[in-house]
Amino acid sequence: TSNETPAGDLATQILHALDKNSPLLSSTAFPTIPSTEVKGALDRLASRDMVKYETIDREEAILEPEGEQIAANGSHEARVFEALRTAVEGLTIQELETAIGDKNVVKIGQGRAFREKWISKTPDGKFKAAKESIKDTTKEQMQTIQSTKSYPDAKMLADLKKRKLVRTQKIISFNFQKGEKFALKIPEVATDLTADMIASGSWKSATFKGYNFKALGADQHPGALHPLNKVRSELRQIFFEMGFQEMPTDKFVESGFWNFDALFVPQQHPARDMQDTFYVSDPKEADMPRGEDSSDTADYKTYWDNVKDVHQDGKYGSIGYRYPWSGEESKKLVLRTHTTAISANMLYKLAQQKGPDGRPPPARYFSIDRVFRNETVDATHLAEFHQVEGVIADYDLTLGGLMEFMDIFFGKMGITDLKYKCAYNPYTEPSMEIFSYHKGLGKLVEIGNSGMFRAEMLESMGLPKDMRVFGWGLSLERPTMIKYGISNIRELLGHKVDLNFMRNSPAVRLDKE
Ligand code: PHE
Repeated sequence: TSNETPAGDLATQILHALDKNSPLLSSTAFPTIPSTEVKGALDRLASRDMVKYETIDREEAILEPEGEQIAANGSHEARVFEALRTAVEGLTIQELETAIGDKNVVKIGQGRAFREKWISKTPDGKFKAAKESIKDTTKEQMQTIQSTKSYPDAKMLADLKKRKLVRTQKIISFNFQKGEKFALKIPEVATDLTADMIASGSWKSATFKGYNFKALGADQHPGALHPLNKVRSELRQIFFEMGFQEMPTDKFVESGFWNFDALFVPQQHPARDMQDTFYVSDPKEADMPRGEDSSDTADYKTYWDNVKDVHQDGKYGSIGYRYPWSGEESKKLVLRTHTTAISANMLYKLAQQKGPDGRPPPARYFSIDRVFRNETVDATHLAEFHQVEGVIADYDLTLGGLMEFMDIFFGKMGITDLKYKCAYNPYTEPSMEIFSYHKGLGKLVEIGNSGMFRAEMLESMGLPKDMRVFGWGLSLERPTMIKYGISNIRELLGHKVDLNFMRNSPAVRLDKE
């Protein structure tokens, strides 16, 4: 098995060495094996309590090449002395150099030999020995250091280092001995208690691997909020703190009536084309507009007729579109193309309410949910996305006041410096696209669409003439992509989304850019 120790591996060698002799010093027992390898093997054995060891750091003295030369041939001064000892007449410097065969040895050696008073000069300027014999301590020191790798005292070591004869080196070795569970073979350890071990009784003699309380746990993959959900909760919070009420968005399928006709979208409008809108084939058609239950006593039939009249013939001071309006077209079922279908429904319900003065009270509504468009999918378009929509109904609202509101609303999202551009929506007049300067991209980016809902739409519902309703919409994807630095919408939504993207997206962002 993989636990088996190959014969002769270092750990086994250590065990066998200890069997003969314990304790041991690694630098003596395994002088040629690098200390990191020895430590690895000792650690493996120590983790099983088979050995105990301690680390010893020490400094070793090593001879430099010149020191080696001295250990072998004697110090320069001794060699000079030796050459002169037998030359009774003395030697000239040239003769000395020829005798020794190394100018350098002569140069250094004669100086030191003079200082030691081993040699002197003759009246005619020759070198001669001044003693019978000398003791070559330097050679002895070199030989001691060579054989023991240690040095007698620090002062002497400093001197030898200065003379470049010796250097020192840090040596790590280990003093190791038998541990409590010493054996010649590393036992196989069981990691699990198995049914087989219990049945055979082998558990009694088995050695179990100890628990490693320092091990890091396996990666956990708990649920994570989708970034869209995180930005959605931030936006909901902004709406709530500004006094908005959340609209019920639990219907993906709407009738053409609520999605288009109630919003004064003509039945020939290109947005109603199959190329832009998904139509539901079964069931074939919607019921006539009605309330959810019997508590809703509003007169939906009159509303339906008003919508027909305002489209076909004009009403409330509008000349209308002047085309034959089709009830059948209005009852077609669609996947809602915008959440403004719900705003229309909510505003119609508002028209039925009576405040303290007998008139519909001011209201603020919002929703954040999915809408569907029959679009070609690319890096910035999907067939479905989330729309953030807000609606404010109040008396005598002005466009300027509502632009100020937009500043506050988008400011809370960290989006500032808004710019407006005239736009067209069948249901709003005026209509304005909202832009903001994006510092990262260095240009204005469209962040939303807005406008004052048309009288044709509001008066058909029965809302008072002086009640103005402002609405705006934006996608949830756009700000999320900006905040999370995503460039392809398919990384955010749809079947290609990488789950790791969700796991790794920060739960809390500290930026507001
Ligand atoms: N419904 C519009 C859209 O889909 C947004 C909008 C809502 C515009 C309300 C004006 C008023 O872009």
